[in-house]
Amino acid sequence: AGPCDIYASGGTPCIAAHSTTRALYNAYSGSLYQVKRGSDGATTNIAPLSAGGVANAAAQDNFCTNTTCLITIIYDQSGRGNHLTQAPPGGFNGPEANGYDNLAGAIGAPVTLNGQKAYGVFVSPGTGYRNNAVSGSATGDAAEGMYAVLDGTHYNGACCFDYGNAETNSLDTGNGHMEAIYFGDNTVWGSGSGSGPWIMADLENGLFSGANPKNNAADPSVSYRFLTALIKGGANKWAIKGGNAASGSLSTYYDGARPSVSGYNPMSKEGAIILGIGGDNSNGAQGTFYEGVMTTGYPSDATENSVQANIVAARYATTSLTSGPALTVGSSISFRATTAGYTDRYLAHTGATVNTQVVSSSSATTLKQQASWTVRTGLGNSACVSFESKDTAGSYIRHYDFGLQLAANDGSKQFKEDATFCPLAGLNGQGNSIRAWGYPTRYIRHYGNVGYAASNSGVHTFDSATSFNDDVSWVISTSFA
Ligand code: AHR
Ligand code: AHR
Ligand code: AHR
Repeated sequence: AGPCDIYASGGTPCIAAHSTTRALYNAYSGSLYQVKRGSDGATTNIAPLSAGGVANAAAQDNFCTNTTCLITIIYDQSGRGNHLTQAPPGGFNGPEANGYDNLAGAIGAPVTLNGQKAYGVFVSPGTGYRNNAVSGSATGDAAEGMYAVLDGTHYNGACCFDYGNAETNSLDTGNGHMEAIYFGDNTVWGSGSGSGPWIMADLENGLFSGANPKNNAADPSVSYRFLTALIKGGANKWAIKGGNAASGSLSTYYDGARPSVSGYNPMSKEGAIILGIGGDNSNGAQGTFYEGVMTTGYPSDATENSVQANIVAARYATTSLTSGPALTVGSSISFRATTAGYTDRYLAHTGATVNTQVVSSSSATTLKQQASWTVRTGLGNSACVSFESKDTAGSYIRHYDFGLQLAANDGSKQFKEDATFCPLAGLNGQGNSIRAWGYPTRYIRHYGNVGYAASNSGVHTFDSATSFNDDVSWVISTSFA
């Protein structure tokens, strides 16, 4: 059985079932998600390998060979057509054209389920999915349940990495108009014990960790690599649960009455579904989503325990974030551009600016050093790498507003993440293309001989699709200095 078969036998069926990694019904063999590729704008649907099974990640890899891919649709498996697509502007604009949010890159969250490769949805700041016309979801004070499997190590403090019930007009329409899972270390509203991240309920104008609108010590910091996060809500009752999605059972972090502050009892749920954003399209948050469902009715603890057992049996595990020629930690390297007309240029820095410069064996030592980088274990994720300057020890290539800079490691989580890059096989067939860890759609690119973390088309000039594959492909070899 799948999670939604279990909810159905418990009398609280799924009204939406979203997953890019696996079928959530035993009999489901339809599409899980749609990807769109950068080379020609074509789309394809990715289905499970067999009914009830794991996604056919090889079909995605094949379709996206030598180009980039975005996740355009996360299909609803419930049969109700409650699909998630690119979120429109609301109280806040997203970063794409016309205020839409970004779509997730398709390769940002590779995992295995029972040994078979699949991809989750890696939500960078600015990314969001939504459905404002959902069939069958809870409205008003009606009961519902929901869970999501997330990456407990990928989060931030911005508003709001959510999955769940939200406003149908993408605006903040008041207290009690949402009921969604939140995950992260935002402390503007509620918080739990420790320094986070926490599972909380986004009930609109508040992230709740319990009845008290501020701190509830019973809600623990949780950072399991694979995290089950669960919220349910009914008439004057709601609960928060969590657990390790890879083993063991769920724990209850809150189970009780609605918050006493006004507007949350009764609730005024509207029934849209959001992923990766807040109810008003606040879109600064980050996180990773693998699967999640929304139910009608208040699921029993017994049902939820069976769902957790089903998730554990799916055997989520990590897999490599890199491909192509391997980079050796500790080695000193240079990056040669492969775009025709620029192949004598190497990734270098002039002060804080990262650029390309013409370098050769007869160049001055200063220039050779400016074009030489030491490979370090990724400061923000040890499965990827960081690039330390040869001539400025302690300074690394980072992105900031998607420009590349050379900057000293200030020890912050933001710096470490911005300075972490995952080398992949070169998109033009040569060397490596090196994506930003925190923005899987963005690669180290030269444009006008300056360095950027660029996406394959987008709102910035440096995101130009023209010559993208060549501009992001680098031949890596032993450094000049
Ligand atoms: O409740 C927290 C956030 O507040 C909601 O997600 C958003 O709509 C509002 O800004
Ligand atoms: O480069 C994009 C973002 O810009 C970085 O993640 C952040 O540090 C800066 O605001
Ligand atoms: O960086 C040099 C060139 O500038 C790139 O190849 C091109 O895309 C841009 O015009």
